[in-house]
Amino acid sequence: MKDCFGREIDYLRISITDRCNLRCRYCMPDGMSGKLCHEDVLRYEEFLRIVRAASRLGIRHLKVTGGEPLVRRGCPAFIGALKAVKGIQTVTLTTNGLLLRENLDALVQAGVDGINVSLDTTDPQQYRLITGDSGVGGAEEASAALLEAAKRGIRVKVNAVTMPGTDVLSLISFAREHPVDVRFIEMMPIGYGRLFPDSDNRRLIARLAEAFPDLEPESEAALELLWEAAGREKAFSFAERHSLERITKKHGEGPAVYFHIPGYQGSIGFISAVHGKFCSSCNRIRLTSTGFLKTCLCYDQGADLRAVLRDAGPDSRPGAASDSGRCVKQTAGCAERTVDCAGPDRDLQLEEVMRAA
Ligand code: GTP
Ligand code: 5AD
Ligand code: SF4
Repeated sequence: MKDCFGREIDYLRISITDRCNLRCRYCMPDGMSGKLCHEDVLRYEEFLRIVRAASRLGIRHLKVTGGEPLVRRGCPAFIGALKAVKGIQTVTLTTNGLLLRENLDALVQAGVDGINVSLDTTDPQQYRLITGDSGVGGAEEASAALLEAAKRGIRVKVNAVTMPGTDVLSLISFAREHPVDVRFIEMMPIGYGRLFPDSDNRRLIARLAEAFPDLEPESEAALELLWEAAGREKAFSFAERHSLERITKKHGEGPAVYFHIPGYQGSIGFISAVHGKFCSSCNRIRLTSTGFLKTCLCYDQGADLRAVLRDAGPDSRPGAASDSGRCVKQTAGCAERTVDCAGPDRDLQLEEVMRAA
């Protein structure tokens, strides 16, 4: 599916809950989220219905997120159901890792294609300061869980939102010792993130280039970042040593650019939403837990798919048989007929509304 800027949209992020078991200072320090009524949040069958329509429009990759997705009961089974949707190629999960170990067996069984674990620091005190009281012991738990997941053969990435004092060298040790990619994420000035000082990945890349002279960009975008961060000389010497065709490595479907440090098992990634804008290559749309389809993370534009799913609107196919769900008697013109809220008309409507958004 192409958007009006010609970008290929093949990735859908699905937030299955706004609840979280942490209170990160840049996200929901006072628990502002997690206040939705049970009925407002889509049921798993409703998400699946939207995903089937999205797949028909060309969505191939799904990310399950939250809040914290593993606080919602049935998340691994839902991932299994998403994997079974025709046309879907990958289903990955982004989690804070606190409930990961107890869900690992079920996630492996569901066939999850990758797990991203949010871990901004490995230092327990620092972690507690960032995540609030419920973060006591969290750094240790998330670290143990991500290593356990990697050991089980799952593709694992660490997400570290960068703040002043981020322990870059200690975080990248995950990538040295294990096949785990470690990504540094610039704090985006959205929500409580606005209250934080500017975080600039170029500074981190310059530090890494200093500490590891053989740092290898894995894509042209990474080469450009190295150029900006560490200067012409470093970037040139890399370009001289390697033919540019080699710089094509892809890790998943996200906006991160990656570098490799010789001898490391995993790569080091950078998600630079502020200083390395990737809007021109954005490939994704987002579905909130209440069924609102957001076309951009930073704007509220989109479409209310829950209304399409749940409201009894006019049906274009008189006499349509219901496959499941509620049916409502409705008068259209002078003929009374059954509106099929769960049948194929709703699916067509869903597709139309998504395409229009
Ligand atoms: P994969 O690499 O395929 O796993 O995807 P991902 O990196 O997009 O997934 P993840 O959920 O781990 O997101 C990591 C970070 O990417 C988030 O913290 C955001 O900072 C950033 N991000 C994800 N989606 C968007 C988006 O649509 N716009 C912007 N600006 N940033 C995003
Ligand atoms: N800027 C950047 N990343 C953020 N995340 C949450 N809020 C922000 C923000 N303001 C991250 C989480 C998680 C990912 C899904 O989004 O830490 O890793
Ligand atoms: Fe927000 Fe994720 Fe922290 Fe939960 S773990 S408060 S969702 S950033």
